[in-house]
Amino acid sequence: MIGIGLLGAGTVGGTLVRRLVDDRSAIATKTGLDLRITKIGVRSLDKARPFEIGEGVLTDDLNAVVDHPDVHLVVELMGGLEPAGDLVLRAIEAGKPVITANKELIAIRGPELIAAASSRGVPLLFEAAVGGGIPIIRPLSETLAGEKITSVLGIVNGTTNYILTQMAEHGTSYGDALAAAQELGYAEPDPTADVTGADAAAKASILASLAFGTWVGRDQVHHEGIDNLSAEDITAAQRLGYTVKLLAIADQTDAGVCARVYPAMLPNDHPLAAIRGATNAVYVAGPAIDQLLFAGPGAGGDPTATAVLGDVIDAAREILAGAQAALRIQFSPGEIVDFGEIVTQWYIRLEVADQPGVLAQIAGAFGDAQVSIESMSQEGRGDAARLIIITHQAKERQQRAAVAALEGLDIVRDVGAIIRVEGPTS
Ligand SMILES: NC(=O)c1ccc[n+]([C@@H]2O[C@H](COP(=O)([O-])OP(=O)(O)OC[C@H]3O[C@@H](n4cnc5c(N)ncnc54)[C@H](OP(=O)(O)O)[C@@H]3O)[C@@H](O)[C@H]2O)c1
Repeated sequence: MIGIGLLGAGTVGGTLVRRLVDDRSAIATKTGLDLRITKIGVRSLDKARPFEIGEGVLTDDLNAVVDHPDVHLVVELMGGLEPAGDLVLRAIEAGKPVITANKELIAIRGPELIAAASSRGVPLLFEAAVGGGIPIIRPLSETLAGEKITSVLGIVNGTTNYILTQMAEHGTSYGDALAAAQELGYAEPDPTADVTGADAAAKASILASLAFGTWVGRDQVHHEGIDNLSAEDITAAQRLGYTVKLLAIADQTDAGVCARVYPAMLPNDHPLAAIRGATNAVYVAGPAIDQLLFAGPGAGGDPTATAVLGDVIDAAREILAGAQAALRIQFSPGEIVDFGEIVTQWYIRLEVADQPGVLAQIAGAFGDAQVSIESMSQEGRGDAARLIIITHQAKERQQRAAVAALEGLDIVRDVGAIIRVEGPTS
């Protein structure tokens, strides 16, 4: 029998308990493992729980869960940095494997926790931390360990993908789409972490670090959200053959590794352009595998608990094998590319005066910054005149210099929107 100590029994933890009870014999038949919940740590002992609990199993003493002699592995599903972080470390130091779905904890304390687990020879598994039910952590760190991955692009936040899909398909405003997401339970009452890209940045940090073997900390991931996007620009992007997605991007060039999060226009034939609603997807490119797409439910009790359960089964097998846990991930120092050096195309919407010489002045601003223009189209006339410009590829700092110069021109009333354009499918 493998005894499980569970920290947190909310959306994911509560589902895990139900699955371990309901599917116990099916899991035993398939894996030969007898998995049982020994202790469950929660904040409130009075809360109604959607599962049966044996006497003495539920506690608010979280250390007692980790320390219990019949707890052989610890599953952390509380979220947040503390006390989750210290409990995870406590379990590792006691030689107990740890499974967590906590992206924030891994993105911020990953190197320390992974090093502690590796020196103690116990697994630290976090398949559910990115993409919920989508298997992506194990593919990046194990299955694809022999591939020279060049880039990873992810739609890793279901809330924002739902909002963007509503805006694109129904012309809904950002505010109305957010309200609909909240009504359907896709968005938290406080959606800040989702809509500002902060949640996706933690996931980008993990994806980049695993894909390239160089640790990219959470604070080294530049992030922008979707809260400034208008339905008008999303529709304009569609007319040009693009779909707007909030992307977590990690790539490796000769200069080093870079991870970032921002809304970007993808060509409509890119595999990620077809990912609608709250679905998540991660696209991986490399010379040998060409392109891989992992897609599915990125959140929710059942999908996420399935990923956690897979890790529990893996860790239980290691316990029974009795050997030092296999080293799954190793990081080596590497260059992190400054965000200003990132090369992309930009979509820029300018509100301009409708008068002779406007185009020459605008072209001059781009030329001075050494950014060339791929296409320019005018919509409307008079006070409503606007230009939609797509630049050729240039460094972020050059594109910013061009926009700063545009803002200084009298004939530019407003730089209405900027959206980066990500590359073709291969
Ligand atoms: N929900 C998803 O779809 C999803 C998807 C992927 C990853 N995750 C990750 O999975 C983890 C859990 O998410 P969740 O949605 O299941 O969270 P949740 O529903 O808020 O549940 C959190 C659980 O942890 C307990 N808890 C929190 N802080 C505690 C503290 N200081 N002391 C004792 N107990 C504490 C709560 O106790 P009470 O029940 O007594 O309040 C609750 O049982 C997070 O790291 C999250 O990022 C979630």
